[in-house]
Amino acid sequence: MAGRAGRTGNASPYSVPEIDRTKASIARVYDYILGGKDHFEIDRRATDAMYAVDPKAGQLAKDNRNLLRRAVPYLVRDVGIRQIIDIGSGLPTVGNVHEIAHRIDRNIRVVYVDNDPVVIVHGRALLSRENTSTVIAADARVAESIFDDPAVAELIDFDEPLAVIAASVLHHLTDDDVYPAVEAIRERLSPGSHMLISHFLDDDEDRAKALEKAFLEGGLGTGRFRTWEDMHRMFEGLEMLEPGLVYCNDWHADKLTPIDSAVHTLLAAGLARKPG
Ligand SMILES: C[S@@+](CC[C@H](N)C(=O)[O-])C[C@H]1O[C@@H](n2cnc3c(N)ncnc32)[C@H](O)[C@@H]1O
Repeated sequence: MAGRAGRTGNASPYSVPEIDRTKASIARVYDYILGGKDHFEIDRRATDAMYAVDPKAGQLAKDNRNLLRRAVPYLVRDVGIRQIIDIGSGLPTVGNVHEIAHRIDRNIRVVYVDNDPVVIVHGRALLSRENTSTVIAADARVAESIFDDPAVAELIDFDEPLAVIAASVLHHLTDDDVYPAVEAIRERLSPGSHMLISHFLDDDEDRAKALEKAFLEGGLGTGRFRTWEDMHRMFEGLEMLEPGLVYCNDWHADKLTPIDSAVHTLLAAGLARKPG
């Protein structure tokens, strides 16, 4: 399989929208929460709505990044995964998936997928010298936009197991979109492939409901807190790996996991395997 040095062209069949400074963007809000530099006033205002409900809610993003720090080495070292598609990858930040994977094995192939133009621009710049990682503009709701992209075929061997990471992205899809989207992704996975999901959790807590309202009505327009049952539905047909679908910080916690997180019960995570 020929990896291609820093795919920088615009050949993606999915056309990414223009940067819109008048609407808050999930990727930029997330970047703001994580202390990055790529956000506008409109993003900061949308984030304030969330902080008004819970000043500690930004910890959700940090707990989620901490999950990736644990899960990527687990996938590579313990499961033996050699290729990863990171859907809804977000703006490059500290501890990008390919960097974590490459600390273990430089040959692990990583495709980042996002539908935000700022992510694509920054991702292309970051990966311009990489030959085992790339970024594509595609939509999590349209499996073909990901799996049929020629740049993906250059790096990913679909006859071999791969890992799909959908970290903190599926809660930005509506109920109508999310289940068909994950089903279409699951169908495209070769046997032995894995799917990691983290997602805002509605564990019957008032805070979850209030935060969801802030996300949906406070300028961002997306961010649903779903129940354990809703999340289990996303893994239908897959074998859940230990420790199952759990609070995010309970997933293979180590000494760097913020187990006393103020938002411990608001984020869930699970890793499952496609049988066969
Ligand atoms: C909260 S960030 C999560 C970033 C990263 N996965 C992480 O865990 O740190 C969610 C990302 O999903 C992207 N996203 C939202 N809806 C999407 C869609 N329908 N297709 C592709 N990406 C999407 C956003 O642009 C954003 O970059």
